[in-house]
Amino acid sequence: MSRFIIITTDTSFEQRVRAAVVGGLHGNVQSLPESAINGTPQGIINQDPTEPPEVLILGPGVSIDEALKLAAVLDLQFPEVSVILAADTSPELVLAAMRSGVRDIVSPGAEADDIRILLERACLSSAGRRRGLSDPGHSDSESGRVIAVMSPKGGVGKTTVATNLAIGLGKTAPMGVVIVDLDVQFGDVASALSLQPEHTLVDAVTGAAAHDAMVMKAFLTVHAGGIYALCAPINPHEADLVTADHIGRLIAQLATEFQYVVVDTAPGLGELALAVLEQASDAVWVVGMDIPSIKGLRTGLGVLNELGLIPQGRHVVLNFANRHTGLNVQDIEATLRVPVDIVIPLSPSASFATNKGVPLMQDGARSAVTKNLKKLVARFELQGASSHKKLHRRVVVS
Ligand SMILES: Nc1ncnc2c1ncn2[C@@H]1O[C@H](COP(=O)(O)OP(=O)(O)OP(=O)(O)O)[C@@H](O)[C@H]1O
Ligand SMILES: [Mg+2]
Repeated sequence: MSRFIIITTDTSFEQRVRAAVVGGLHGNVQSLPESAINGTPQGIINQDPTEPPEVLILGPGVSIDEALKLAAVLDLQFPEVSVILAADTSPELVLAAMRSGVRDIVSPGAEADDIRILLERACLSSAGRRRGLSDPGHSDSESGRVIAVMSPKGGVGKTTVATNLAIGLGKTAPMGVVIVDLDVQFGDVASALSLQPEHTLVDAVTGAAAHDAMVMKAFLTVHAGGIYALCAPINPHEADLVTADHIGRLIAQLATEFQYVVVDTAPGLGELALAVLEQASDAVWVVGMDIPSIKGLRTGLGVLNELGLIPQGRHVVLNFANRHTGLNVQDIEATLRVPVDIVIPLSPSASFATNKGVPLMQDGARSAVTKNLKKLVARFELQGASSHKKLHRRVVVS
């Protein structure tokens, strides 16, 4: 069977793909001539009608425009086939590739070992899509990290932290990050990222999408930072349509597709937040520099501990840090009974960024806030990001 089809003029690259497959994957690699890039998707996919391919690798040496066009048509007609583009990347190409439903981009100079990791993920994703949402069928080792950004109290900076974390992770894992806005009534991820989503969380978890992973993916929105977003419903009334069950399945599915699933949540420990915690590998606990927020987190952590719902990765972020509150970090740690990992200073630049709809991590300006946000991002890059930096998923767009 040909699990892998490659269209390229670069024989050295093709050999490395073959070596990658021989070195640890099942199935064969079938090579098609360069002219196949202009053919029909059916012609390519039905090379072996008994066994459709799982992964199609386009390039190097083929026209990128033609490759993206082909990827876009395949995304509609054969969404279960993962398309990988072999080309030198640029932010523009990453965006164009995301919009065409390309699953991943690999450097033409990549070694066989790196190509193998990428192909493995592409096969997993293809298999996940064939199975559909009802059975995500993944093990923990195969899934991406699910990072829940939480706090019992409102207004402490969850959305600020979640959007910056997603953008920061997107720099090392372009196409590999999705941010989900689970503040279903008053979510503002779309506003913080200047997105005008065509579809929202409600579309992604109800109707056809609830049973079909491929349909669900059509509801993600592409952000210019090379990440995907699943935005909250526009109308707060729609919030009632989203259940904890929906969220459990959605997060599990996204974790099979993405290296990082960053979840922004509503204040408190409602049932949707608990459904996320059940799936989360990490929680980022955001706390402000005021007693109600600190005590709220201490109580929340106690309750969640009793329920056994504290994810393994714990990251405490103290936000709005400043000298004029009568509190210091040691006081706060003593009250929380856990260490503070990241301290983000109070800064007008943070509210300015929210109002502008451009997260600080996106605009690249250096400040004490971005320095500490980068430290937060680094905690996730260091703890178990695989050598494969860019995982992704296909999708449609705002
Ligand atoms: N370090 C900071 N310095 C100054 N302003 C900040 C800082 N962090 C966040 N803000 C601002 O505080 C406001 C609330 O932040 P944000 O929306 O991120 O909080 P939230 O916890 O998501 O709120 P909610 O609970 O309502 O969802 C925003 O206007 C944001 O720009
Ligand atoms: Mg928020």
